[in-house]
Amino acid sequence: MWLQPKCPPGMLTADSRFMTLTMDKFLNDMEREKPIRFTEQHLKIATDNYSYLLGAGGFGAVYKGVFSDGTIVAVKVLHGRLGKKVEEQFMAEVGTIGKIHHFNLVRLYGFCFERNLIALVYEYIENGSLDKYLFSQNKIIGFERLHEIAVGTGKGIAYLHEECQQRIIHYDIKPGNILLDGNLNPKLADFGLAKLCNRENTHLTMTRGRGTPGYAAPELWMPNFPVTRKCDVYSFGMLLFEIIGRRRNIEVDHVVESQEWFPMWVWKKFDAGEFEELIVACGIEEKSREITERMVNVALSCVHYRPDSRPIMSDVVKMLEGSVEIPKPLNPFLQFMDGNFTANPVHVPPSYTTDTSSSSAVVTDSSIVHATPTMGNVILD
Ligand SMILES: Nc1ncnc2c1ncn2[C@@H]1O[C@H](COP(=O)(O)OP(=O)(O)O)[C@@H](O)[C@H]1O
Ligand SMILES: [Mg+2]
Repeated sequence: MWLQPKCPPGMLTADSRFMTLTMDKFLNDMEREKPIRFTEQHLKIATDNYSYLLGAGGFGAVYKGVFSDGTIVAVKVLHGRLGKKVEEQFMAEVGTIGKIHHFNLVRLYGFCFERNLIALVYEYIENGSLDKYLFSQNKIIGFERLHEIAVGTGKGIAYLHEECQQRIIHYDIKPGNILLDGNLNPKLADFGLAKLCNRENTHLTMTRGRGTPGYAAPELWMPNFPVTRKCDVYSFGMLLFEIIGRRRNIEVDHVVESQEWFPMWVWKKFDAGEFEELIVACGIEEKSREITERMVNVALSCVHYRPDSRPIMSDVVKMLEGSVEIPKPLNPFLQFMDGNFTANPVHVPPSYTTDTSSSSAVVTDSSIVHATPTMGNVILD
């Protein structure tokens, strides 16, 4: 059963307003259990006719909105066609995402599925996405806090992989999908948009590549290679490198030929025992030495070219927190160094263009599906 949305504020008398506030409270309580179905008209009012754009990614634009009870939301407008089968799949997926509650995951409040509008309505996360802070010149967020953000994000992913009823692979872990609340707590966005994976199925064979260049695990670009939750572990490792270096592993809008791929550079420094040089080159303070060491070790373990050799997410969290010992990482890039591996180490697909409004690269090769792909499949099929 889907709940009906709240009344717009302009239509109320003083008495009915009291009723509405009471109803709002009731609906708010109910909201925690199930996503609300909103009408096109409601979202138009809430977003003030889509006047406040928060950003745009591979699947459309995100707008800020406010409901009559003051709840601030982010409305993600998706491109797509309507159809009975599409609607059923959409409802099933939205129903699942809406039931997932975790401190480090963005809440889905509801959705709209109408002729002129397919949209998802999320809780609004006030400080926006991590990429804005990570790659800016002024280092507003200190290294220790970035480490906490990594731990929190890891907990969110571990919940999706290991604890929630239906196992969920994210497929698009990247700084643009890590939102920060008023206290800089990380909230992972866009989970569940990719294909849901039943608990019984540990493997899901896909025929098409997916993910964002620079974060997508090598197996995602290999046709018919089994894809597991370890692809998120790989992307998380790439995220850790970006935190350590405070720079993107690959710049999608310009290729710096002379620059070595940062994760490979880190491996070489680690392998040569030149940790000191790494700390200095990354501008990390002495007091953060220990957590840096932990992060480097974990990052290298997460990006191993063999999915089986990567740790599971709950272990990643424990290792980052320092509650378990971290096994010495093996060379994660051995395959590339041997020259046996045909794929580009950064897994850049044949052609892509840069979406300057976000960190995403939009894959233009029609055989390759970009970020959060299954929602794309669901809508576009
Ligand atoms: N729930 C939200 N609260 C606040 N801002 C959001 C929210 N969801 C998305 N955004 C903003 O909108 C931008 C675009 O989001 P999205 O379309 O998912 O693209 P991407 O994930 O590729 O960055 C994000 O980078 C973020 O700044
Ligand atoms: Mg996103």
